[in-house]
Amino acid sequence: MNTPPLRLWDPVVRLFHWSLAGAFLANYFFTEEGENWHRWLGYYAVAWLAIRLLWGFVGSPAARWADFWPTRARLAEHIRALVSGRDYHRMGHSPLGGLVMIGMMLLMLGLGVTGFLMEEVDYFWGADLPLQIHEFCANALMALVGLHIAAALFESYRLQENLPLSMVTGKRRKLEEY
Ligand code: HEM
Ligand code: HEM
Repeated sequence: MNTPPLRLWDPVVRLFHWSLAGAFLANYFFTEEGENWHRWLGYYAVAWLAIRLLWGFVGSPAARWADFWPTRARLAEHIRALVSGRDYHRMGHSPLGGLVMIGMMLLMLGLGVTGFLMEEVDYFWGADLPLQIHEFCANALMALVGLHIAAALFESYRLQENLPLSMVTGKRRKLEEY
């Protein structure tokens, strides 16, 4: 019997997610490097990172750092389940998924900081290093985004549930229904 879905992702998490995704893709593919749109979209994403950092302490249960922080024990359990083909799912980020997500957030922060150094700090004017780090963060983030989307699609297929849609509506099927 179908019970009403669980409200898993609160609006802050969803707005954060699509803001980050939109700003990243727009800056990677469309905006003029270093120009106004590029800078303000980058800062917009960084402002969301600050909100998300705090939200991880006060937000809904699945949004909390404590819920999905990828500790060694959690990662080991997840990897063991994957290797042995055992079922693993939980109402919230998986440990490996959480690791990739935290990596993506840090790379986005790296983009914001190096962008700021290039644009606003005279000392770094014309220096190569911030641009090289900026470029590295952008490409590493693109690689993680690829992995992240592939994992979201794969897990959606495995669980027969549209996980990307859950990041839009916030709703997921309840655990006992799998
Ligand atoms: C393009 C850049 C993207 C970035 C930087 C990104 C980043 C993130 C981050 C940081 C989270 C954690 C959210 C939180 O806890 O606040 C997340 C979750 C998630 N993202 Fe993305 N994302 C991107 C694109 C996408 C796309 C295109 C999809 C859909 C195919 C997607 C599907 C998901 C899903 C389903 C989750 C929740 C995973 C779970 O159930 O544990 N993401 N993403
Ligand atoms: C979503 C975050 C961001 C992404 C994905 C992003 C991405 C990129 C990429 C792919 C490049 C080209 C690097 C290359 O030359 O190969 C670039 C260049 C640049 N970005 Fe960003 N960026 C972001 C945020 C920012 C911010 C916040 C600033 C400044 C406040 C900034 C300033 C610049 C500048 C000055 C350049 C170099 C222009 C030049 O070639 O001299 N970026 N960015």
